[in-house]
Amino acid sequence: NNLKGRGVWRYKDAIPGNYTKIVSMNEGGTPLIKTKEEGKEIYYKFEGANPTGSFKDRGMTVAVSSALNTNYKVVVAASTGNTAASAAAYAARSGLKIFLVLPKGKVALGKLAQSILYGANIIEVNGSFDVAMNSVLKMYKDLGIVYPLNSFNPWRLEGQKTIAYEIAEEIGVPDSIIVPVGNAGNIYAIWKGFKELMENGSINKIPRMIGIQAEGASPIAKAIAKGSELPVFTNNPETIATAIRIGKPVNWIKAMKAIHNSNGTALCVSDNEIIEAQKELARKEGIGAEPASAAALAGYKKALHEGIINEKEKTVLILTGHALKDPDSMLRINTKIMSLNPEEIEKNVLGEINVNN
Ligand code: F0G
Repeated sequence: NNLKGRGVWRYKDAIPGNYTKIVSMNEGGTPLIKTKEEGKEIYYKFEGANPTGSFKDRGMTVAVSSALNTNYKVVVAASTGNTAASAAAYAARSGLKIFLVLPKGKVALGKLAQSILYGANIIEVNGSFDVAMNSVLKMYKDLGIVYPLNSFNPWRLEGQKTIAYEIAEEIGVPDSIIVPVGNAGNIYAIWKGFKELMENGSINKIPRMIGIQAEGASPIAKAIAKGSELPVFTNNPETIATAIRIGKPVNWIKAMKAIHNSNGTALCVSDNEIIEAQKELARKEGIGAEPASAAALAGYKKALHEGIINEKEKTVLILTGHALKDPDSMLRINTKIMSLNPEEIEKNVLGEINVNN
């Protein structure tokens, strides 16, 4: 069929399940952009190029197809925003009714706007994502008739693992993969992809999985730092990177497995480092990523600084979501916008141009 050659469904043979109908918008097949810095093997996997602007679409195409397959009529998801936008889009395309449970006041504007546009039923709860997540888990268990689109649903991860397939096909196996961690599904999904490729003999090593969390929401990074197997959960996660503002990641066991089995690690970065990284990505590389995604670059710098990786290694940073997702984060950047009458423009432009440069 016409889906075969592109994106996620290009790897249909690696995705379990028999689908009567596949709900797809040609997600996946995202650009792997090499840094412009000469002599460096740093690549940015720009997941912002997916149909709704984040990597969630890779998982959603598989999970929503699976919901249709099993005859569910109603889907639900808790979300910090991107899962919501993606689930809403794929639910619309499949004709399924959707309920989203969101942490009130903590979802970036672009993501909330998308969920409204796609016609989702939106429920806001007081509290963090973790409260919303618990409500969805409860609904799923109590009601039985709702199909969950969060990443504890294994079909989501089957779609997301194609990030690894695409990277391996394009540049072989990197030394490290750096990925922002929130609910901790994606780091596992990517690792699973590489593990499968290793097992079927396509590749001969697995990259180190390096998870990045924001300081105020770093249950896994804190555990790794003190050599503990148990996350340091928090009831009050806080970070400017709202996508990963999560205190109790539902997939923590899987994430720990991916990190340990790949000889990886987890680090945390400050909000300030995240914002500086977001600016640097945009202003040096021309890539617009949302704060949670920029955390990967902040984390990369930290990993270099701490000697965890070196500059010569082949490293892929997963830029999970598009900058447009969170307009407020961009508008907070200090800038000078000139307000001029048309006749004043040329003089001022000349004044801004330093001829010695
Ligand atoms: N980056 C972005 C932009 C995200 O939206 C998320 C998760 C992550 C990274 C972390 O991925 O949860 O698999 O560890 N967003 C979820 C959501 C929680 O509801 O949109 P993870």
